[in-house]
Formats: sequence, structure tokens, C-alpha cells
Amino acid sequence: MYPTGTLRIHELSADERAIYATLKPERLPEHVAIIMDGNGRWAGRRSLKRFLGHQQGAKAVQLVTETASRIGLPWLTLYAFSLENNLRRPRAEVSFLMRLLRSYLEDNLQRMMDNNVRMRYIGRTQELPPEVQEKMRWVEEETAANTGTTLTLALNYGGRSEMVDAFRRLAVEIEGKRLSAERITEEDIHRHLYTAHMPDPDLLIRTSGEMRISNYLLWQIAYTEIFVTERLWPDFRGIHLLEAIADFQRRERRYGGLGERGGEVEEDPERMKLAAG
Ligand code: FPP
Repeated sequence: MYPTGTLRIHELSADERAIYATLKPERLPEHVAIIMDGNGRWAGRRSLKRFLGHQQGAKAVQLVTETASRIGLPWLTLYAFSLENNLRRPRAEVSFLMRLLRSYLEDNLQRMMDNNVRMRYIGRTQELPPEVQEKMRWVEEETAANTGTTLTLALNYGGRSEMVDAFRRLAVEIEGKRLSAERITEEDIHRHLYTAHMPDPDLLIRTSGEMRISNYLLWQIAYTEIFVTERLWPDFRGIHLLEAIADFQRRERRYGGLGERGGEVEEDPERMKLAAG
């Protein structure tokens, strides 16, 4: 159940409201993460340049964030620019994405304020161009007091490099004798991740049909439900977010246990014999 103070259901479109009405308020996800994929294919199918796909993709970011904020989703984390994008895409495309990010932040600040959205970032953002970092800091500060959805953009982000960064910080603690290696727990790793301040995602959405995680939130998605849609990111809207949440609510989350059907599962006598030695 989301805090009622943050809900703006009356601002949803009629179609969105119809899906929202089918959702169980007690089983709404706290955190939705999205791998936004398919900008290039969206453009290619229309014989447009890839850049235009990214531009449409940026519009989708704003629209989906607004729906998330209307339903009171606390955490929305979008994979906007990976370390691999930075290293492997042509320079011209990387510079375009950086310019797009800057203008996105500039042009959408007012809408973020109107929607009570707080902006945060994860990733090796210190390696981004200084003028982009400056805009990022500005929007983060301006929106810091907002109490609705926290929109986190993963920028120059990689799941493995996040873990490398976390282990480096853990090593410093160990060297400083503030922690002993034998006593490291999952919680110690968690508190050094970029996402230490947020819950793990309940739902991960990937657009454009690929069945890959692409180095996104590797530690955090251990028990996350995954929803893959063929829809390309520039065509993704708030209504599709709500459809993904409806699908998520039809699943039974078991976290490695037996779940609600546990009582019906018969124990395998052979396995029990083995376990008994
Ligand atoms: C994948 O499309 C998408 C990205 C490279 C990252 C997402 C970027 C945006 C949505 C635009 C900018 C975002 C903000 C917040 C301003 P792709 O090029 O890999 O598509 P393809 O696989 O079809 O080629």
C-alpha cells in the first residue's frame, strides 16, 4: 500500500485508471527497475536516424515517470547509459546521448517539480562530462525535498563495476581494522552499493524482447520478478508500466521457499534419504 498522500489517481488517463483499478493495493511493488532498450530499432523501422529513437526514448522516460508518480510508486530506476554504451558506441552517439541528457534535465525540471519527483543517479557518474555532471547535481538539489517517486537514472553504470567499487570500499574498512574479513555479511556488501539507500527492485522490466540482464543491478535482482515485453522503449508508456505491475501481481514470489502452495508439495523420499546421509 503506497502512502495515500502521494497518490494522484485522478490524473491517470481513463485507460490507465481501468488497469489501476484491477491492482491489489497491498501488493504494489516498492521498486521498479527498467532496462530501456530498442531506441535504435524504433528509429530503424521508420528509416530514421538512431538519434531520433533516443529522442523519443527520452520522451517515454518523462511519461512513464509521471504515471509512476501518479500511482505513488516510491522507487523507479532506469538504465539510461551503461559503461558498455560509453565504451562501445561511436563517439558521435555518446556525445548525442550526453547532450540529450543535459537538455532532458533542463527541460523537465519543472515537470519533475510538478510531479513531486526526486532525482538521483547511480553509476560512475564522476567520469561523465563536467557540464553534464553540473546539470545532474543541479536537478538533484532542486528536487531533493520532493517526496513522491525517486527517479534514479543509472548513468555510466555497470553491475560488475558497482561491485568492484563496493569491494574496494570494503577493503578500505578492513585495512582500517573497522571490519574483519571473516565477519563480512551480505549487509556489509549492500551498504557499499550505489543503491544502499533503496530497497531491491521487486520488478525488472526489459523492453524490446531481449532475454538479458545486460550487467544491470546484478546484486540487487537476486529475487526480482522479470517482465520482458516486445514493445520498443520509445513506444512504452505509463499504461504499459501498469500492465507489467498487473502481471507481477499474478505471480507468486517464493524467495527460495515453497510459497503458498508449499503444503501441496510432496517431499521426494530419495532426496530425504540422501539428506539424512
Ligand atoms: C537502448 O537503445 C537505449 C539506450 C542506449 C539507453 C536509454 C536511453 C534513452 C531512453 C534516451 C535518453 C534518456 C534520458 C534519461 C535522457 P538502443 O540504442 O540499444 O536500441 P537498439 O538495441 O534497438 O539499437
